[in-house]
Amino acid sequence: FLGEKPTILVSEKLGEAGLNVLRSVGHVECAYELSQEELCTKISCCDALIVRSGTKVTREVFEAGKGRLKVVGRAGVGIDNVDLQAATEFGCLVVNAPTANTIAAAEHGIALLAAMARNIAQADASTKAGKWQRSKYVGVSMVGKTLAVMGFGKVGSEVARRAKGLGMHVIAHDPYAPADRARAIGVELVSFAQAIATADFISLHMPLTSTTNKIFNDDTFAKMKKGVRIVNVARGGVIDEDALVRALDNGIVAQAALDVFTEEPPSKDSKLVQHENVTVTPHLGASTKEAQEGVAIEIAEAVLGALKGELSATA
Ligand code: MLT
Repeated sequence: FLGEKPTILVSEKLGEAGLNVLRSVGHVECAYELSQEELCTKISCCDALIVRSGTKVTREVFEAGKGRLKVVGRAGVGIDNVDLQAATEFGCLVVNAPTANTIAAAEHGIALLAAMARNIAQADASTKAGKWQRSKYVGVSMVGKTLAVMGFGKVGSEVARRAKGLGMHVIAHDPYAPADRARAIGVELVSFAQAIATADFISLHMPLTSTTNKIFNDDTFAKMKKGVRIVNVARGGVIDEDALVRALDNGIVAQAALDVFTEEPPSKDSKLVQHENVTVTPHLGASTKEAQEGVAIEIAEAVLGALKGELSATA
């Protein structure tokens, strides 16, 4: 860098290896759990901001960073917590870390799938409470069942590959998926309607966009096979959560395993979170030691690249 060292604000926990990459060229300030107001005050003195999914990078943040803020780095894949329209208007680049947490997310999806099928979370809580409920927690088998992978991108295809290893029949829906990748993994690409109508298990791996927002709603649940089981490690917003509670109550959906929610954290009294047929985790998809170190380095390099002017387009 010519001239002054850039100031980089890191507003959520980032792996040490990534922080070291950033520190080698800039002043790094780590400040977590900032209110929107505190973030806006700090951002006016920063050249770059690095976030995970907990920080909402709104128009106000870009406005406050006007003239100085050059890049926002999202330490992860989804950039739905960043106002891209405002970023473009204020001439700020947005970069993400698109590869380092793929396997972690896929593994968490498979972990939830198996945990749900065998009632692991419920049985663990019951056994710890001193009960021994062997007949209550009879599960369902995964082998031979049809799994619909909704969104056949990086994570979806790794989930499909692993589910094949469990002996599941895997179908996928993705309007943009290349047919040769599906063929190579032995997955049949089908329409949205066919996927939801035939699946015993459905695993969600699509980004949250205006098209996928609440794509799982009363209408789509009604078209599913009775007793379907759903895993979501993508984004809470793709499900209409009230509709899911109704589908669980009327038995269309037998079980759900959810890592993501429309509002994070969800309210403790949420009917969905407290539902006995629902297993929940606090947005842990990308949270393995390996993935977090990888993501930290990937985003640090992307942000420094953008600051050095290597990039010229918004992600
Ligand atoms: C992602 O989009 O990559 C994940 O949500 C990452 C995260 O946990 O923040």
